[in-house]
Amino acid sequence: MERFAFVLHPLRFDDFTRKFPILRHLPESAVEKAFSHLPPFKASHITGAKSKTGVEAEGWFIVVPIAAHLMLDLPFREVMLPKLLRAGRIAEQLGAGILGLGAFTKVIGDRGVSVANGLRIPVTTGNSYTTASAVDGALLGARRMDIAPEDATAAVVGASGAIGRAASAALAGEVRRLVLVGRQERKLLQVAEDVQALGTHTTVEISTDVRAAAAVSDIVLTVSSATGVLLEPGDLRPGAVVCDVARPRNVSEKVYEQRRDVLVIDGGVIEVPGEVNFNFNFGFPPGYAEACIAETMILALERRYEPYTLGLDIRADRVREIRELAKKHGFSVAGFRRFERSIPDEEIEAIRKAARGGKRSSTSA
Ligand SMILES: NC(=O)c1ccc[n+]([C@@H]2O[C@H](COP(=O)([O-])OP(=O)(O)OC[C@H]3O[C@@H](n4cnc5c(N)ncnc54)[C@H](OP(=O)(O)O)[C@@H]3O)[C@@H](O)[C@H]2O)c1
Repeated sequence: MERFAFVLHPLRFDDFTRKFPILRHLPESAVEKAFSHLPPFKASHITGAKSKTGVEAEGWFIVVPIAAHLMLDLPFREVMLPKLLRAGRIAEQLGAGILGLGAFTKVIGDRGVSVANGLRIPVTTGNSYTTASAVDGALLGARRMDIAPEDATAAVVGASGAIGRAASAALAGEVRRLVLVGRQERKLLQVAEDVQALGTHTTVEISTDVRAAAAVSDIVLTVSSATGVLLEPGDLRPGAVVCDVARPRNVSEKVYEQRRDVLVIDGGVIEVPGEVNFNFNFGFPPGYAEACIAETMILALERRYEPYTLGLDIRADRVREIRELAKKHGFSVAGFRRFERSIPDEEIEAIRKAARGGKRSSTSA
């Protein structure tokens, strides 16, 4: 039996109230603040994960009960690193062979490097598989919307980030035009240079205006670490596909309520093989998990107990390799899902038809 552990933290107020409904009656900020003083704890025992190859794994969720925005504000070395190391030691004591870092626990600080240095077991951010599944999901969504990627403009929101850089490199060669979006022009220029150096046919541009970039794009991949919504219903062109990988999400729920001609899908959602039971409600239906959790499980099932993805640089060869390992063990990108629900085929068909009714040409922006 292979063993892994994964660190989770609350992303929305719902994550507190799902577990403790009584908290609904208290102010959000007071609840978040009170929980942020609690130490990390084991939240569940994960059972039943079984690879197509027959290898089995068990694992544990360790919760660091701190909201995303607080995690960004707290000093990393003095406060967050000791908490993450404490979570890691719980994983070690439980017998885990590898530790995965969830959501903002790998965005803060040096993206897992110091956590890995302070533990006896290897650590992974899960970002290689997140990148692979984000790009695959966005391209799958595009094809379902009759967008030919090779003729399309794609925007990567958060292109200078860890996942954004790797996803931009993976999209180069797939689309006609790539718009790299972020807040700092200097960082975007560097990414643009790296992507251009790949020598593909894709035209590369940069933008610090998220809405303007979305307005000219057929495919929008959101991978920013913004803690609030960046895209509203009026920001997207008819027929666009938006793959939202960011947690918390970058795309407003209003987009899917109000734009019947735009396909919004959750990125990085994976179907896990076997009769897996996470024994913890993290907002997903049974058998599904985020790509970063899946990467940790795949590495355990492959007996690759090593620091697979760490730091800001996500290696292109690892993105390709983890995609193959996922297939080998029976993990797959979930069908089209949005806000944790699957999107029925008829709905996608209706979106496609509505988009065809009002679609502009991809070069008209
Ligand atoms: N679904 C999953 O399985 C999964 C797995 C892993 C991570 N994630 C999520 O993916 C996201 C990205 O993670 P990461 O590690 O790549 O983060 P990161 O390295 O910190 O990169 C964040 C990027 O977002 C940009 N950004 C931040 N605020 C912005 C704003 N207001 N407007 C425009 N751009 C903004 C940053 O640009 P500047 O530096 O210029 O500000 C940077 O390019 C996070 O939300 C994370 O939780 C999801």
